[in-house]
Amino acid sequence: MTQRDIPPVQRTRAGPLDVSAIDSVEVLARYAAGCVACPLYRGATQTVFGRGPDNASIMVVGEQAGDEEDKRGEPFVGASGRLLEEALEQAGLDRGAVYITNAVKHFKWKPSGNRRLHQKPSISEIAACYPWLQAEIRIVAPQIIVCLGVTASQAIFQKRVTLRELGTMPHVAPHGGTALATFHPSAILRMPDQEQRVKAFEGLVRVLSSARGYVSRDDLGEYREDFTALT
Ligand code: URA
Repeated sequence: MTQRDIPPVQRTRAGPLDVSAIDSVEVLARYAAGCVACPLYRGATQTVFGRGPDNASIMVVGEQAGDEEDKRGEPFVGASGRLLEEALEQAGLDRGAVYITNAVKHFKWKPSGNRRLHQKPSISEIAACYPWLQAEIRIVAPQIIVCLGVTASQAIFQKRVTLRELGTMPHVAPHGGTALATFHPSAILRMPDQEQRVKAFEGLVRVLSSARGYVSRDDLGEYREDFTALT
């Protein structure tokens, strides 16, 4: 599919719509802009699709767009995005070289006064959005995926998992590639205790550094030893 074939925004669903022939994230995003696969599109301003190079070695997956991302149409541009950017920097990674996306592409919220309060997406909403994530993974073909938090982990591992179960070790995910999990930056920001926040942030940086180590090394054996050292 070429740039010329990009359709106007229309009502789409990646499941019923065959996206297997699409080979560019830009074209995919155009289709996803009209997604009505679950009810979340009704309350959201727009679909917030992934951003980053089509050939990134590292893919970072978050939960869903937040209030600011929903308005700006880009993932991780609010407070949690700033924390993620700092963690990427400390891990020696350039944000522009990483493909950043979310398990769920629409912002789920409920009103509270004049604020929009984040709501966790349900399993069925994660499942409805999965064909988009799956297509992003197929096109970008990252060497490693970093899941931020439980929702991203559930989407990538296609089952109910906890961060504790996953630990910081890499696992082979159902898409056939390698993935590992860590804290979501928003969860870190919400931690009431400063010491806890610092520790969790260090954990996030460590996992991102490990992902960096993974892609810059051919020898998985050496890499696994690194992970042993981390746990
Ligand atoms: N939280 C996410 O999971 N994704 C975003 O894009 C922003 C906040």
